Amino acid sequence: MALRIAVLTGGGDSPGLNGAIKWVTKTALDPRLAARRAVSFSVVGVMDGWKGLVDIDPDDPVSRARHIQNLDEETVRTWDRYGGTNLGTSRTNPFNPKNDRSQRLIENIENLGIDVIVAIGGEDTLGVAYQLHKLGIKTVGIPKTIDNDLAGTEYSLGFDTAVNVIMEEIDRLRTTAGSHSRIFVVETMGRHAGWLALYGGECSGAFIILIPEYPFNMDHLCELLQEREGREIRYSIVVVSEGAKPLGMKEFVKDMKTDDFGHQSLGGIARYVADEIEKRTGFETRYLILSHLQRGGSPSARDRLMARRFGIAAVDMIINEDFGRMASLVRGEITSIPLKEVVTQGLKVVDLERHYDRERYNGRRSIL
Ligand code: F6P
Repeated sequence: MALRIAVLTGGGDSPGLNGAIKWVTKTALDPRLAARRAVSFSVVGVMDGWKGLVDIDPDDPVSRARHIQNLDEETVRTWDRYGGTNLGTSRTNPFNPKNDRSQRLIENIENLGIDVIVAIGGEDTLGVAYQLHKLGIKTVGIPKTIDNDLAGTEYSLGFDTAVNVIMEEIDRLRTTAGSHSRIFVVETMGRHAGWLALYGGECSGAFIILIPEYPFNMDHLCELLQEREGREIRYSIVVVSEGAKPLGMKEFVKDMKTDDFGHQSLGGIARYVADEIEKRTGFETRYLILSHLQRGGSPSARDRLMARRFGIAAVDMIINEDFGRMASLVRGEITSIPLKEVVTQGLKVVDLERHYDRERYNGRRSIL
């Protein structure tokens, strides 16, 4: 039996995507493994996520060449070293009730002779994979989101590299913050979950960390900064997640636009916090929005390893006919869980009891 695997990446890009594509391809086409398998594979990459599979005209060779790329071991050999996704990405939702293109998607999958789809993405991309699975199309998922908020897995690709970017940038800020005795407010990504702000803030020793899970009180935040004044420390770093909210207020959005999945773009909380600190305390304060820098650059060692392991697991899942599931990390081991659980459980947010100190506005100082 010969199966055609199509790999695609959807949602915000992240380091680790190219590695996952590489390891799906290499594992599927590995000649040693192929000799022992009852099934053989060919692998194609779909350009621009679900958008590519919706837009393609399978009967038009030009359109096929634009949207589909044949993948072999030689093509993907060096991909794991590079960030972003060589297959491109989009936030297209073929099941958007306002513009439902799911029928076209399903027909295209059939006409292209695709037997299995490996979807690499977060809740939205994998939500589409789950819908397709329910309609009888074979799909497997690989978790990716720098926010690390996908349910059912301890790790999603991109998170570790993003935390390292936050740490490196805060290290850089410290010298200038110290020279000028300034407070710096650093805004991280993390739409609904505070993992990036929490881990990034903890590993760089930030004085205050504000996360979406715990609306903060501006007066208390200023008191914390004032308590610190006069000690040997000349500056403070405040890390704030883009989704964090002051008590009684909503998230800060860039504009009123929404994407195909109904999400708004967040951003701007750092400026608000910096302005309020300066107004209320008189401390000179600056802010910095790290934005897409957190998704850039080459993947960290952890992201390369996890991309490799998730990619290999995805092919194992196909061979074992474990469709409608996502490769995942559970208690430190690679396994797989039903996409249904990923999509219906809600996001994995910071457990305040275990991880957050509501008085200090920082990570807990008691672990065991
Ligand atoms: O979902 C991942 C994420 O990086 C969020 O942290 C952030 O809110 C969003 O993507 C930004 O998306 P875009 O690339 O569309 O601006």
